Formats: sequence, C-alpha cells, structure tokens
Amino acid sequence: MKQSESPATLIMIFGATGDLAKRKLFPSLYHLFRKKKLSERFAVIGVARREWSKETFQSHVKDSVIASIGKVDNIDEFISHFYYQPHDVSDSESYVALKKLAQTLDEQYNLEGNRIFYLAMAPEFFGTIAEHLKKDGLTDTNGFTRLVIEKPFGHDLESAIELNKRIRTAFSESEIYRIDHYLGKVMVQNIEAIRFANALFEPLWNNRYISNIQVTSSETLGVEERGRYYENSGALRDMFQNHMLQMVALLAMEPPIKLTTDEIRSEKVKVLRALRPIKGDQVHEYFVRGQYGKGVINGKEVVAYREEPNVDPHSNTETFVAGKVMIDNFRWAGVPFYIRTGKRMATKSTKIVVQFKDVPMNLYYKMDQPLSPNLLVIHIQPEEGITLHLNTKQSGQSTGMIPIKLSFGNNSFDAINTPEAYEKLLYDAIRGDATNFTHWDEVSLSWRFVDEISEVWANTSAHFPNYEAGSMGPKEADHLLEKDGFFWWPIDRLDVDNCQ
Ligand code: BG6
Repeated sequence: MKQSESPATLIMIFGATGDLAKRKLFPSLYHLFRKKKLSERFAVIGVARREWSKETFQSHVKDSVIASIGKVDNIDEFISHFYYQPHDVSDSESYVALKKLAQTLDEQYNLEGNRIFYLAMAPEFFGTIAEHLKKDGLTDTNGFTRLVIEKPFGHDLESAIELNKRIRTAFSESEIYRIDHYLGKVMVQNIEAIRFANALFEPLWNNRYISNIQVTSSETLGVEERGRYYENSGALRDMFQNHMLQMVALLAMEPPIKLTTDEIRSEKVKVLRALRPIKGDQVHEYFVRGQYGKGVINGKEVVAYREEPNVDPHSNTETFVAGKVMIDNFRWAGVPFYIRTGKRMATKSTKIVVQFKDVPMNLYYKMDQPLSPNLLVIHIQPEEGITLHLNTKQSGQSTGMIPIKLSFGNNSFDAINTPEAYEKLLYDAIRGDATNFTHWDEVSLSWRFVDEISEVWANTSAHFPNYEAGSMGPKEADHLLEKDGFFWWPIDRLDVDNCQ
C-alpha cells in the first residue's frame, strides 16, 4: 500500500451536525481516505450540541458520503475513525470532556498530539471556542495545533480585528487557516500557473497591452434558507470582500520570487494595498448594487428577494454587486478590473475575461467587420479551462477575418471531475500548507476597501428590486462599462466548446 504523505492527525469538527460538514467535509475526507491521502493514523471527533451517540454520528457520516458520492468502497472502515462529543461551546466542562476523548484517541491511534480544530459553524462562536481551546488545555500538546475557520471572518474591519485578537490568544498567525473556498478551486489555483508558467502571457500582462479585466461570478440560486445571515451580509460582504478580491489579487500580483506561502501572500497583499479606495460620493461612480425581483430561472417562476423566508419585506440588502476596481501601481495604472457577482442571475458561472488592447492599426477594417479584440478567458466553473480568442483569415476565397478560439477544457482532459475545493483545502491544512488560505493582512485590507462602500450603501436607500431574477443584473451594471467604452462579454457565448 502506498504510504500517505499526510501526518497522523486528529480533526475536531465543530458544527459536525451541520450542513457544511454533511455536504462538503465528510465527502471530502472520504475522497482523501479513498485516495490514500490520509494517514492511517487519523481520527475525527464530531463536536456539536446534539446529544448523539458515536453510532448515530457514524451513520450520519456514512449517509452524507453516500448521498454525495453514490457508490462507495470501504465506507465502514472510513467511519470507524469517527467519534462524537456532545458540546456546549461556552461551557468549560464540555472542553474538558473533549480533551479527554482527544487524549484517548491520541493514544489509540498514535496521533503524536497533532490536532486540527475545524470551526464549521456560526461565526459568533469562533472567538469563544478559540479562547476555550487554549484555556481548557486542548491546544496544549506536543504536536501541531491548527485552527481552520470558515467565513465570514468578521462583518467589517472593526469586528474582524476583534475576532482576530480573540483567536490570536490561542493560535499564532501561522496556525490559523482562514478558508476561502475559491482558493481551493482548480482553475483559481491555475491563474498563477497560466501567468507564470507561460512565456506568452507575462510580457503582455500589464497596462500596455491589457485594456480591462472582467471577473464574473453569477449564481442562479437565491438565498435559500440563509435569509437571516444574508440580510446582514449582502453580496458585497458575502462574495466580493473575499472570493472576488482574492481572484483580483491573483490576477494582478507580481511574480513571487518563489512559490512559497509567504512569498505568494506577500505579493497578493501588495495588490490589496494598491486598491484605489472608493469613498463617499465616488461610490456610485464605481459601484452598482442590485436586488432581485421575481422572475423565471430554468423555466420556473421564483419569488423576489424581499419575499424570501427571513428577509425584511423592505430589505435594502444587495443580492448583486458590480464594481470597477482600480489598482494604482505601475503595472496596472489605468486598467479597470470590472467585477460582478449576484444571486438569481441567468446562469451559474464564474469566468475571468482578460481583454487585450486593439492592434495599433486595423489593416482589415475595410473588410467584413471590425476586428474582435483578443481575449483570454479563464473558466473557473462549471467548466474548467482556458480559451484564447484570436482573429484569422477566413478559409476559401473570402477575404474576411473571423474570430476563432483556442480552447482547453479540463473536464475533457481529465475525464473524471477535478477534486472539490474542500478536498484540496483539507488536504493542505492537514499537511500544513497555508498558501491557499487567507492571511490576516489580506482579510484586513479587503475589509478596509469594502467598508467604505458598505457604509455609503447603509446610509442611502436603494431603489430595489432593480433586476429580474434570471437576468444578468441591473442595467446600471452595464452602464458602468459603457461609460468607459467597454461592455460585459456575454458569459454564455464564451463557453469552452462554443466556437462562435
Ligand atoms: C459562499 C457564499 O461563500 O459562496 C454563498 O456564502 C455562495 O452565498 C457561494 O452561494 C458560492 O460558491 P460557489 O463555489 O458555488 O461559486
């Protein structure tokens, strides 16, 4: 049997009866187990309020894995590594009991004191749990201790600082793994590789050759059962502050001197420091917010955001955001990064479009049509791949030019689906690779940028709803680009395989 590269580890999942654990964490751990990427010396303790037995928890894990993956091998062996501890997050006795179970498993599996605390639960408990882990001795081991923490990391800069202070009482920055699941996506990780492993792009990757960059992450889902959370968040905090700005940082950063965690992070931080702050009156020039009204998605009628459960019927919360982000540094001065994301849009898609400047003189202008600009499209999801849009002469007698695409689709190459983001991130956390997690400096700089915008929005009421469910957002988002002489490249016509 192939020896796993992973160290022996005890993973404690707080919020183990919740949705994230069920949909993402258990199936991802199972994939790692099946691929022999977990050490045989691993154990998981599910920690949650419910009074479950070990057996109930194990069968819950089994059901979750089967529901997600279908046919599974060795599932009984897998779930035999799972244990359960009923828990009250603010009660020291609970932590003492947890510590006892952890010590028993440590001996039983020879785990060398290595512990990962995964907080997959409501963020208001993050600080309390971290403090108790320290106070009640769970972080006191001979092995490594790591805190994996789900978003949101704070609600604004002030609350993020407060939360950070609390968790730093128990964990050092290098022990904190802040999840941004976009950083686990194969094609997000590929942004660096496309840029830095090809001689072709990097010389052009600047304001001399790129006219603008567009990043779209559209969803067809509404807020589902998350109305309560979303009402206090909105698209700006939920998607823009983290996932969208992380993609911008990867697109805009300088080549790191080495591919180490510290070097990559420090280049990303420089980009976030160079974001042009958008303040007060400027907000409406650079940012557009939207909220969906009723409409039709995939042939089905859906209700307006204000009619969703746990949503205020007069809600001012945005379910869509589009922004023009400027990076004031030598490489990017003058190049707009247009970002948009929203719920209940026409299609589920995340794509990056890099639009190159026009050729200096169009020799072909008198022929059939003006030349299309060259585009590099990075398909993040659901397709994974890249396409390069070029112009070529039509075959045959015609003198016209036609746009063509050079395409690479990961799915067609791999046949089997690429690993789910959580599988990659869990694997990284177990091996101690923090590259694809967000450093505190990145979190704080992103909040600083976003807070200025949310403050203006909180103090001005919006004319909502302003886009129909099933559309690509409010028309003001189109004006944002039109003012600069650009337009959003239509997402549905940029597919890897759709050639025209
Ligand atoms: C999460 C947001 O971080 O990302 C959700 O909280 C959103 O509101 C989700 O639906 C989108 O993730 P993905 O991977 O489906 O694009």
